[in-house]
Amino acid sequence: MDDLERAQDILARAERITVLTGAGISAESGVPTFRGAGGLWENHRPEELATPQAFARDPELVWRWYHWRRGLIARCRPNPAHRALVALERCTPRFTLITQNVDGLHQAAGSRQVLPIHGSIWHLRCTACGTVREDRRLDLPALPTCDDCGGLLRPDVVWFGESLDPELLQRAWQAAHQAEVMLVVGTSAVVQPAAGLAQVAHEAGAAVIEVNLEPTPNSGWVEVVLLGKAGEILPRLVEAL
Ligand code: APR
Repeated sequence: MDDLERAQDILARAERITVLTGAGISAESGVPTFRGAGGLWENHRPEELATPQAFARDPELVWRWYHWRRGLIARCRPNPAHRALVALERCTPRFTLITQNVDGLHQAAGSRQVLPIHGSIWHLRCTACGTVREDRRLDLPALPTCDDCGGLLRPDVVWFGESLDPELLQRAWQAAHQAEVMLVVGTSAVVQPAAGLAQVAHEAGAAVIEVNLEPTPNSGWVEVVLLGKAGEILPRLVEAL
């Protein structure tokens, strides 16, 4: 039995499956990853722009980055990897999809049990009154302001140094802890607390399957490592179910 067959067999037996995805699952849709080759934006690193300090210092620069990302992501469509997870959800009694991605492609593909633990690039939050609204317009002003109070809006995403929504994180932790199988797709597994969720599942007795172009810090202990493109591996992984 080769690794793909072993992974298929593990998934076929599971009633409770939790999936954790990162930027790599959207790469084949055309959404740049953060740390892979072809980086994210000119010579800026996410760690420099995706922080409250950067936004306080230069909100126009941070917004320019997000206007650029929203414009790019608006042209991207779910790929076969996103669609394979929709199929997996439909045939799994207890299924949770935890995603670090803010692009909304899982939801666009039809995934329903999604925990977007890093927020959404399509939601804007007022820095003054806290109102959060979905706004997909690509012609926003350079510095968008709140309709209610006139305060400066920011993307409703988790920046470096910020904490995740505690309720979302608790649900993600539970989904990892209760899983029989955890499928980890397209994440470099270096940003906490998401990176630690695979360990939570492992320590609770789950079989962890990793799908990535290259090894990650988790590769040494997971049950099965499937090296390759998510858009090619996931459809084959779920076709047999
Ligand atoms: N198929 C599978 N894996 C892929 C593919 C692909 N086609 N393309 C890239 N990858 C893998 C890379 O090998 C890498 O391990 O996807 C991973 C992408 O890693 P990152 O760019 O670090 O993205 P991610 O792990 O989601 O980053 C976590 O960091 O910048 C913050 O908040 C941001 O959510 C993000 C978090």
